[in-house]
Amino acid sequence: MSWSERQQAMLEAMGLRVWTAPPVPEPEPEPEPTAPEPVLAKVEAPAPVRVASVLPQIVVPVQPAEQPRAPAAAGAVAAMDWTQLREAVAGCRACGLCEGRKHTVFGVGHERAHWMVVGEAPGEQEDLQGEPFVGQAGKLLDSMLRAIGLTRADGPPEKQVFIANTLKCRPPRNRNPEPEELAQCEPYLNRQIALVQPRIILAMGRFAVQSLLRSSEPIGRLRGRVHEYQGVPLIVTYHPAYLLRNLVDKARAWEDLCLAMDVLQRKT
Ligand code: URA
Repeated sequence: MSWSERQQAMLEAMGLRVWTAPPVPEPEPEPEPTAPEPVLAKVEAPAPVRVASVLPQIVVPVQPAEQPRAPAAAGAVAAMDWTQLREAVAGCRACGLCEGRKHTVFGVGHERAHWMVVGEAPGEQEDLQGEPFVGQAGKLLDSMLRAIGLTRADGPPEKQVFIANTLKCRPPRNRNPEPEELAQCEPYLNRQIALVQPRIILAMGRFAVQSLLRSSEPIGRLRGRVHEYQGVPLIVTYHPAYLLRNLVDKARAWEDLCLAMDVLQRKT
């Protein structure tokens, strides 16, 4: 079977490429025999078959071209709705982290949550499941939230938090985020906060603080007071993964949660 040019164009648009056997060269003419004709009856050799004429045309899938990397355009991201933002994150190729990820980790929770929690970056479990804070640190975060009557599961906006990270893709071997990766991912977090319009933000750990407050001061120096991100009160506290290794600071993290509750009660 052979395909017309139009059919071929349609197949290619569907990701299929028409493979046609290359033309087989005409066989070389037999050299003139120099020896005298044998006396025996001559046996006719079968006529050579042109392979190309009997091979069917085969349709083979086209390998998708490698997607180019492109920076996230902050201006475009700032105008996105939830659906567009989710799609943009899912297809993001703005930095090298896209090469090694299994899933992007967008965030979970109420789209108009009163509380927004901002962590650092997905780890192994988060990368596998596509949800933030599902490993050991996540279990501690869930307990901390439960202690103040909050949850990541279904609930009204005053109870169900929204949890997001500064990075949406896992850094290899859980290394620290690079400044360039934070910069590329920042428009997504900014837009999430703008859409949620939280009444209070809990910034957990130094990378959340660096992104949202532009501060590299240690957590110990920033916690215990009220900061602001775009007019929203922001409380700095320790990252749950740090608290797993430094149990003595759990009491301080508890104070931070109490401070956040106070601020919110005073606002409402
Ligand atoms: N640590 C984070 O900061 N975020 C996650 O999603 C998991 C671990």
